[in-house]
Amino acid sequence: MGEEGKARLIDIYIMGKKYKVPETLTILKAIEYSGYQFIRGCGCRGGICGACGTVYRTAGDYKLKSGLACQTVVEPEMYLTQIPFYPANKAVYDIEELEPTAETLIEYYPELLRCMGCNACSKVCPQDLEVMEYMSAAMKGELERVAELSFECLMCGLCASRCPGENVQYNIGILARRLYARHLVPRAPDLKERVEEIQDGMYDEELQRLIKAKDEEIERRYNETQADREPD
Ligand code: SF4
Ligand code: SF4
Ligand code: FES
Repeated sequence: MGEEGKARLIDIYIMGKKYKVPETLTILKAIEYSGYQFIRGCGCRGGICGACGTVYRTAGDYKLKSGLACQTVVEPEMYLTQIPFYPANKAVYDIEELEPTAETLIEYYPELLRCMGCNACSKVCPQDLEVMEYMSAAMKGELERVAELSFECLMCGLCASRCPGENVQYNIGILARRLYARHLVPRAPDLKERVEEIQDGMYDEELQRLIKAKDEEIERRYNETQADREPD
């Protein structure tokens, strides 16, 4: 019998219908335990992909709560539903041709200027990101700050679902990170040199030797490298 077999059963409501589930389950597992099968709204199951954004309330509390279904454990009398694919505005662009400025962000996402500073996006973010702050930095064209503040965004869509300004914060964040990475971060000179060496065939012979090597040879060479890098 698994751990859930010994756990106390609690009542939850999935899209209005009552189910009894072990209290130790995550929302994702509880929905499956109740007989549903995910064909969307579920991905990595490890809090990384952002596919499982969920909205819920608990009985007697007016507050609408949200979280990642794969990371949030069920509570008694929880009313829940998954948010489906969110039909968010997503601009199409060629990053090579864009200027790394606030004007570019506003050209592709004019709704950025509709942000009224309500902070609903930061409150709902399961990553606890300062979403309103990065939106404010985006308006000012502070791309490095947007990149920093939005770096751990999972693209779960919950912020956009609550925004009275109709913003799609995560798509603005990713455009800012791309602009920053492509146009503002200094190129690494060593990397350029190494790429040129590879293109000139400097490692072709060694690569062919490795491709043809037996497993034992690969293992021996790997262990030698580790001995160099990981002293006891
Ligand atoms: S929810 Fe929308 S309007 Fe409110 S602070 Fe965030 S981006 Fe601005
Ligand atoms: S910023 Fe928005 S899309 Fe990104 S993790 Fe937070 S709520 Fe999800
Ligand atoms: S399934 Fe990937 S974050 Fe939950």
